[in-house]
Amino acid sequence: MDTVMDFLAGTPWWAWILILLGLVAMRDIFFQKAHTISHNFPIIGHLRYWLESIGPEMRQYFVANNREELPFNRIERGWIYASAKKENNYEGFGTDRDIYAHQHIFVKNAMIGYQVPKGHPNVEDPYFLPCAKIIGAYNKRKKPYRPASVINVSAMSFGSLSARAVESLNQGVGKSMAYHNTGEGGLSPYHKTGGDVVFHFGTGYFGVRSREGNFSMEKMKILVDENPCIKAIEIKLSQGAKPGKGGVLPGAKISPEIAKIRGVEVGKDVLSPATHTAFNSIPEFVELIENIAKETGLPVGIKGAIGKLDQWEELADLMKKTGQGPDFITIDGGEGGTGAAPPSFADHVSLPWVYGFSSVYRIFKERGLTERLVFIGSGKLGFPAKAAMAFAMGVDCINVAREAMMSIGCIQAQICHTNRCPSGVATQSKWLQGGINVPLKSDRLAQYFKTFRKEFLEITHAAGYEHPCQFSMNDIQVNVDDDYLSSDLEAVYSYQKEKVPFADMQELYDCVYLGGKAFSKKTT
Ligand SMILES: Cc1cc2nc3c(=O)[nH]c(=O)nc-3n(C[C@H](O)[C@H](O)[C@H](O)COP(=O)(O)O)c2cc1C
Repeated sequence: MDTVMDFLAGTPWWAWILILLGLVAMRDIFFQKAHTISHNFPIIGHLRYWLESIGPEMRQYFVANNREELPFNRIERGWIYASAKKENNYEGFGTDRDIYAHQHIFVKNAMIGYQVPKGHPNVEDPYFLPCAKIIGAYNKRKKPYRPASVINVSAMSFGSLSARAVESLNQGVGKSMAYHNTGEGGLSPYHKTGGDVVFHFGTGYFGVRSREGNFSMEKMKILVDENPCIKAIEIKLSQGAKPGKGGVLPGAKISPEIAKIRGVEVGKDVLSPATHTAFNSIPEFVELIENIAKETGLPVGIKGAIGKLDQWEELADLMKKTGQGPDFITIDGGEGGTGAAPPSFADHVSLPWVYGFSSVYRIFKERGLTERLVFIGSGKLGFPAKAAMAFAMGVDCINVAREAMMSIGCIQAQICHTNRCPSGVATQSKWLQGGINVPLKSDRLAQYFKTFRKEFLEITHAAGYEHPCQFSMNDIQVNVDDDYLSSDLEAVYSYQKEKVPFADMQELYDCVYLGGKAFSKKTT
């Protein structure tokens, strides 16, 4: 025994390293069969795997220039972070963008901009920017709703986001008078901490699901009765990142809490089919919308990513004929985000937002239906100039998902699908989400929304308008090609937006259907 101990003690440190490397080399050559590189280049082959794994971080921190990353480049992320923290979000020395590049947006400023008069709601509150239309007014729903903010949190479920992230977003929308779309995972306790809520469901019917997995009107009614924070209901047809793609929620992820919220069984795999079981045709779809609106009294809308147009035309024709149909339509762009999707879907299925939205808006405009609908846009629109373009094309509100995530700390690690999100936003790991300070992060979301609205109003005023609903297609240009470098949106997308009825901001401020704290503040 003493001889062995003497031998071990007498072996120099570098010999131990050589022994270890020898063992790794033997394993690489003789025992592992999975990696050719390690077999052919023992030991140093491991470097390749390690460097590859840290490559994205290295590129993001050191290599990528300010404008080249996707989905959001460093300047865009930096603007959101600074806005959320109420830090200096300005740029020095002038733009670093190639303003002659394809699709670059120009907002036409007026010679003399809009001057906010004394006593105007924006003198007291420079962040006050509600939706110019009332959702559900045309269809005379029992409880119409005017969103008190033109920027709101897009559908993201508890499940794809952590409990603390959902709670931060919800408290944040409460503080900034916006609404919070629940996403497909049902209404969780974390969605009920202060903000207006749009309840969203898809083919899994989570939260409003019968034992057999079908839509349950009974559950829908109970949910709405018990939760006055729900102001509208959104039926998801598709989302830009994965239209027509179902999903499986593995049993291992279904904790008792998630099971209760989603209305499913603990530990059992749950299938979200690719299509709905509650309807199978456009007339059946409209019937479901009307039934939900009648039973709950709430406005009901739909969310879709755009590809073929024939069924949208059928919907518009039926709406014209019957006077029935959705109260709002959310159009998501193919560039939209997701918790997880196959690249073939995320990269290729459905049109980018500008093409999808312009095609669908035109269909409803041609039939004279735009006034009765509220149009909502989503797909990287959470920046004031992009929002100006979207309003000029016909949206009344925008929803933001990843921009909202970034405002509460997401660093665009792009690993939402692995449950290893380093910022704790898109994970169910208790440890990783432990770093999220809910009061602080909710302030950040609220501040991002307020800064966005203030800058959006400033752009609107520079263009000579009081409210962004007044933007027309001729107020914005985009670069289209080299012969005739930029064109008005009207020429590019071949339609003119229908005028949104708008008297003044005071009327919106005084509206009894105004959501968020603005209304509660006025009535208390
Ligand atoms: C983590 C995550 C989860 C999402 N979950 C849903 C969902 O449940 N239902 C849905 O319709 N869209 C979902 N989306 C799409 C967003 O609601 C939104 O439409 C899309 O990301 C475009 O907005 P953005 O560019 O501001 O992120 C999700 C997006 C992300 C990033």
